[in-house]
Amino acid sequence: MCGIVGYLGNKSAKDVVIKGLKRLEYRGYDSAGISTLQNNKLEITKTQGKVSDLIAEISTGTHTGGLGIGHTRWATHGIPDNKNAHPHSDNSGKFTLVHNGIIENYQSLKQLLSDNGITCKTDTDTEVLVQFMGYLHQKEKLDFIDTVRLALNQVVGAYGIVVLCEDYPDMLIAARLGSPLLLGIGKDEFFVASDSSPIIEYTRNIIFLDEGELAVITQDQYEVRNLSGNEIVTKEIEEIEYNLDEIEKGGYDHFMLKEINEQAYTISEALRGRVNSEESTVTLGGIYDWIQQILDAKHIYITACGTSWHASLIGSYILEELLNIPVKAEYASEFRYRETAVNSDSVVICVSQSGETADTLAAIRKAREQGALTLGIVNVVGSSIARETHCGVYIHAGPEIGVASTKAFTGQVTIFNLIGILLAQKKGCNLEKIKPIIDDLDALPGLVQSVLDQGNEVFPIAEDFMDVENFLYLGRGYQFPVALEGALKLKEISYIHAEGYPAAEMKHGPIALIDDDMPVVFVVTARGYNKIVSNIQEVRARGGKIIIITSEENAELQEYSDHIIQVPDVSHCLQAVLTTIPLQMLAYHMAVLKGCDVDMPRNLAKSVTVE
Ligand code: G6P
Repeated sequence: MCGIVGYLGNKSAKDVVIKGLKRLEYRGYDSAGISTLQNNKLEITKTQGKVSDLIAEISTGTHTGGLGIGHTRWATHGIPDNKNAHPHSDNSGKFTLVHNGIIENYQSLKQLLSDNGITCKTDTDTEVLVQFMGYLHQKEKLDFIDTVRLALNQVVGAYGIVVLCEDYPDMLIAARLGSPLLLGIGKDEFFVASDSSPIIEYTRNIIFLDEGELAVITQDQYEVRNLSGNEIVTKEIEEIEYNLDEIEKGGYDHFMLKEINEQAYTISEALRGRVNSEESTVTLGGIYDWIQQILDAKHIYITACGTSWHASLIGSYILEELLNIPVKAEYASEFRYRETAVNSDSVVICVSQSGETADTLAAIRKAREQGALTLGIVNVVGSSIARETHCGVYIHAGPEIGVASTKAFTGQVTIFNLIGILLAQKKGCNLEKIKPIIDDLDALPGLVQSVLDQGNEVFPIAEDFMDVENFLYLGRGYQFPVALEGALKLKEISYIHAEGYPAAEMKHGPIALIDDDMPVVFVVTARGYNKIVSNIQEVRARGGKIIIITSEENAELQEYSDHIIQVPDVSHCLQAVLTTIPLQMLAYHMAVLKGCDVDMPRNLAKSVTVE
């Protein structure tokens, strides 16, 4: 969601900003823009569409100089068009700003501006903010820094912003409340971005801005202050942990395909140094000091959004099975506004690839306020959720660029197994229950690779069904969330309507949809085998097309299916890792055959930093 890049240094700001915006494309956007400041003159170019459209709009000889900001917008207030694209500026043309987030009190600010003769030109909340800065600057005779600070102190909502002012040709101001921003510290140059991907090419040294912080960057220095008290904050310089090639396609047609194929490696990374199969133990440094408190909890909540919520549902089954205490998985957007029973006896686990999802972040803040211990299962190192939870376990899947999450999901399920095993052991669980899972974990990367190696087996299924309008995915137990995830992948990237259901629930509604044209994907494992075979029969009897993903090999399933994909059989707690992969592949091939933009599906964003 909305990408921000800012640059101050000796390079061409236009080049750095445009390249940075291209790196941020994966987050999802519908318009793009750039503003640079040279010879005390601000220049702005913006357009609906892609960064390539923006490049086409930029006339030669413009946007020279070493100070600039850029933005990819994902529309919230106002349709995606040229006028609503960022950067926005005030009516005097002195200030220009890019913004990620939502200004909630924009209506009252707009009224105040209107009462003072200032009319906004666009439908955005962002323009209101920059107009408000222009208004304060003139009315209060403030300098650039105080203008931004005073304006932000009156804003309600969420923002990551970068601002330029025509009167300050070597200054860039960035501030954050609720939307991530980080600074890149180069040699005689500085960067600002909403994630590290536009920065890594130039420097690995970064500073995460924390909530309510404002950074003032000039040619030779930067200073971070808190917005409320205006005190200087000493920030630690941290290092980007991944390499540039991890955010490039590396010969694959799409990031999604690359990321699907990385899963044997990413799972081995999730396990690395954490499992000792000889001694049947698991070590997780990030929760080590909190184990007793977790074990003392009376209940566990798991909260997340999207694909991470599907992993959470599997996680809830794993933890409840291994720990024998109540565990509930809930959408973060529901959890944060519901009256929950969370208190100091609760552990609240948050699962997030990006570590920035607005609802998930709000959910952990609420949980902390209510006295719960919070634990993050997060992929992006140093992200907001990773920093705001008491303890946590990183997924170590590396950057995930494809909007449809794949390797993060299998990593999350793997981590839930590690947490479950560790806690179960500390609780005194019988080794017999744990040992088979540990043994399977050891073998898991190899088993994942074997499923990936047969990836093209799903291609004929994609060919057969690429023109259908509906799909149904059914599973039981651990395979119900897999069905949800399979359906989500398909609808996200191929725009085919797909629903995931617990197989037995089919009778309570979806069965009405089944006719000769309806493909139904069944995810079949040993647990509940006979029951799900009955559900298969029910679909067959009504003429539905049957696609089976299974860890069971037998003639019965062969006979009942139009297509069947076999995956290795592992412990129930881990099986989802293997059954999900063919479903990722199926969605991928369907989307490619239909000519869809796999990595940047319409309307979707990778990192949803607004609610
Ligand atoms: C967006 C993405 C999904 C992701 C969800 C949760 O909707 O498109 O792929 O599952 O956000 O994101 P998170 O980063 O918290 O896992």
